[in-house]
Amino acid sequence: MAGQLFIGLMSGTSVDGVDAVLADFTGKRPVVLAAHHRPFDSALRTRLLALAQPFAGELDAASEVGLELAAAYAEASLAVAASAGVMPAAVAAIGCHGQTVRHRPERGYTLQIGAPALLAERTGIAVVSDFRSADIAAGGQGAPLAPGFHAAVLADPITPRIVLNLGGIANITRLVPGQPVTGYDCGPANILMDGWTERHLGQPFDRDGAWARSGLTLAPLLERMLDEPFFAMQPPKSTGRDLFDLGWVDRRLDGSESPADVQATLLALSATTIATAIRSTVGAHSTALDVVACGGGARNTAFMEALALQVAPARMLSSNVFGFEPESIEPLAFAWLACARLYGRPANLPDVTGASGPRVLGAVYPAPA
Ligand SMILES: Nc1ncnc2c1ncn2[C@@H]1O[C@H](COP(=O)(O)OP(=O)(O)O)[C@@H](O)[C@H]1O
Ligand SMILES: [Mg+2]
Repeated sequence: MAGQLFIGLMSGTSVDGVDAVLADFTGKRPVVLAAHHRPFDSALRTRLLALAQPFAGELDAASEVGLELAAAYAEASLAVAASAGVMPAAVAAIGCHGQTVRHRPERGYTLQIGAPALLAERTGIAVVSDFRSADIAAGGQGAPLAPGFHAAVLADPITPRIVLNLGGIANITRLVPGQPVTGYDCGPANILMDGWTERHLGQPFDRDGAWARSGLTLAPLLERMLDEPFFAMQPPKSTGRDLFDLGWVDRRLDGSESPADVQATLLALSATTIATAIRSTVGAHSTALDVVACGGGARNTAFMEALALQVAPARMLSSNVFGFEPESIEPLAFAWLACARLYGRPANLPDVTGASGPRVLGAVYPAPA
């Protein structure tokens, strides 16, 4: 049916590229018609990573990189539409998260770049972006925003579920029948492992966790890392590169550690903090529970095995068990958020973000005439 096709674009803290889906929201359950991953080339990735820290000239740099991003987003949007055989004119809107360069809800702001007006111009499709600031203006964290979508699409009437997104950062959504949906960022998923792998192996990530498997978890180092106050903070809370970067790791090393053992310890850190967060969130439901993993980290077999051990007897599943590839869930959430915006439906969950009430999220850039 016309008017129900939406594209969702997500490029997260991993800065690996953009994941795109084209989805049909006509029925009760969205149908992913096509998915596409467009990696960032290393020059764009380097420029994006540089923007994580303040520097002189950053405003011009951010604006220029935003235009480059829009070009990448346009390519991904047109590619995903073409692979489904759908004309751009048939797409109601693109939900474009953009690339976060600052996330400071405690100071009242968050900033995603990606030149949405240029994206609309390049694709001929309306764009919805800037999804987080209305929630922050209402006193919320502006994150996570996917839980509303998870609740609409992945909740089960009987079995309690946790949706666990393993991007750069890990976030969880609690879907327990009869209880409010809650969710928050629990800490690093891949971000520290990726950074450490890049530094020592020159690779963007540790494929299947093979390098982490070759090392041993260093218990004293793990203890020092677990002392990070963020882990003990009560939700709502959200985090990103502002806190978890390689400097954070370096400050906890004593210099005697082998790089492979540090990698194994970083994997253990992510698995431990995620499992602890899940247990404290579901309480008595932590036994008969399904943990539904999505995001690129669901491809990391060593990570998934470590998580399965830590959350047992809860079951660790990949989202593809429910018909959605792990990489499709987050972009699909932003397609859903764009749809909610066009229909004027509030999409934040105040219990999740801490906002003072439901808000319609996102700014609309109409399709060029
Ligand atoms: N085969 C794999 N083995 C290990 N890690 C993987 C694999 N595939 C993807 N990843 C991880 O997933 C990350 C990308 O996940 P993604 O969901 O796109 O995160 P983000 O939303 O932060 O961009 C990569 O940086 C990498 O750490
Ligand atoms: Mg990504």
